[in-house]
Amino acid sequence: MPARRPHLLLLNASLAGDAGNTAVLLARARRLLARRATVESITLATVPASDSPFSALRSQLQAADGFLVATGTHWDSWSSVLQKFLEDATPAEGTALWLGKPAAVVVSEHSVGGKGVLSRLQGVLVTLGCTLPPMSGLVLSRAAMIAASHDPAAARDFWCEADLRVVCSNLAEAARVTLPGAKPALPRWRTWPVDRRDFSARWIGE
Ligand SMILES: Cc1cc2nc3c(=O)[nH]c(=O)nc-3n(C[C@H](O)[C@H](O)[C@H](O)COP(=O)(O)O)c2cc1C
Repeated sequence: MPARRPHLLLLNASLAGDAGNTAVLLARARRLLARRATVESITLATVPASDSPFSALRSQLQAADGFLVATGTHWDSWSSVLQKFLEDATPAEGTALWLGKPAAVVVSEHSVGGKGVLSRLQGVLVTLGCTLPPMSGLVLSRAAMIAASHDPAAARDFWCEADLRVVCSNLAEAARVTLPGAKPALPRWRTWPVDRRDFSARWIGE
């Protein structure tokens, strides 16, 4: 019997709920992932204030084989709705709800702070019990996108919207190979373009 498709949960942790930049990115991610997985989306900001967002979502988190967590950058950190969710999730640390499930992370920012948010959030997810697929963390920066529109060659090594394909592909692949009952198979990872020529070039003029 062929293995079932993995079930992935998209966690929109935007302060702007379904109206923000995060929602646009997750709608794209959903289309990319739907080819290889069943996909469910949750928007933390729309969980009723009377509920603990974590308790309200517990059964959906439990049923997921992997996660894509997305947030804006807010004063060098993730959103307050995500912070509340993580605080409420603490009793589930190291349980089957998270253990061994792959987690991808997408952060957006205006100009600065997003990489710190990405790295720290990946650290929290691993501490909860998740695994990180390769090249599954992305920071989309408004500043980088403006730079790319003016000088595409100079911005070639910056993260861009197309890299979301790599994040989604590697998340789906990690979920496929870790699915309970899956036949042992080597994962087929994807990579985004990497600058191997100019990365150490001096870019500040005299
Ligand atoms: C209160 C607030 C604080 C922000 N702080 C930062 C910041 O520290 N660094 C940055 O680059 N962008 C910052 N931004 C810009 C957001 O990270 C960016 O617009 C992001 O895409 C928002 O995602 P959303 O539309 O899903 O909420 C901030 C935005 C708001 C509303």
